[in-house]
Amino acid sequence: MEPSIACRLLLPGQTAIVTGGGSGIGASIAQGLGAAGAKVVVNYSRTNAGAEEVVQSILDQGGQALAFKADVSREEEVQALFGTAIREFGTVDILVSNAGIQKDAPFLEMLLDDWQQVLNINLTGSFLCAREAAREFLRRGVVPERSRAAGKIIFMSSVHEVIPWSRHVNYAASKGGIMLFMKSLAQELAPYKIRVNSIAPGAIRTRINRAAWETPEAEANLLKLIPYGRVGDPVDIANAAVWLASDESDYIHGTTLFVDGGMTLYPAFAEGG
Ligand code: BGC
Repeated sequence: MEPSIACRLLLPGQTAIVTGGGSGIGASIAQGLGAAGAKVVVNYSRTNAGAEEVVQSILDQGGQALAFKADVSREEEVQALFGTAIREFGTVDILVSNAGIQKDAPFLEMLLDDWQQVLNINLTGSFLCAREAAREFLRRGVVPERSRAAGKIIFMSSVHEVIPWSRHVNYAASKGGIMLFMKSLAQELAPYKIRVNSIAPGAIRTRINRAAWETPEAEANLLKLIPYGRVGDPVDIANAAVWLASDESDYIHGTTLFVDGGMTLYPAFAEGG
């Protein structure tokens, strides 16, 4: 059976911003939120083709969506992103802070620029977007017809918020940073009815990790790390995100939902130790 997006209308009338929504996991999440009834702002940072396609597919299903270019590591661009969402769709109810990059290198060869770019997009970008979202959630407060929460923030973390990753120290540091950023923010914003959580994907078949699955040999190696025996699909993450953004998960706050086919179960220990 083909994987599909959960189809119950969980988010009617809500507005969502998905950063990095033009490709991979972000594109699937944007489509999932749109299918769940949300109006979606699909953020992209370089080429608009992917984002426009996502927008079109939401419009084709009778939804509302628009694409907006912004580099999440730049304060003014993030403010313009939120300003546009609020102007066009009235407010923002959901932020999925998904934009992320890898710049892999052995540690001794890692350039300061590799380190900074990854931290800037993955961690500082999450800070800037979450701050704008929280400001809007607080300004507006709870609208009970739409949601029990004043707003929902979902960070895209990774299994590498807990699994160390040699030759990817910048990426692992950014995701470890997201973990305590998310929890600290959840602690701070709970009194305002703002829900804050993360999703930690394992190996999901997208452009970012193409080398890890594109040949049969690479895929066989990757599968040794995944007890459940398949590489993930973006829709696996989209379904989790729709649910985590909805009131179905209203009591879930300050936690990371691992969607990883068991990658965090230390599969090497199945036969060892
Ligand atoms: C990374 C992927 C990697 C996966 C599992 C993700 O966060 O972006 O490149 O395949 O973690 O290691």
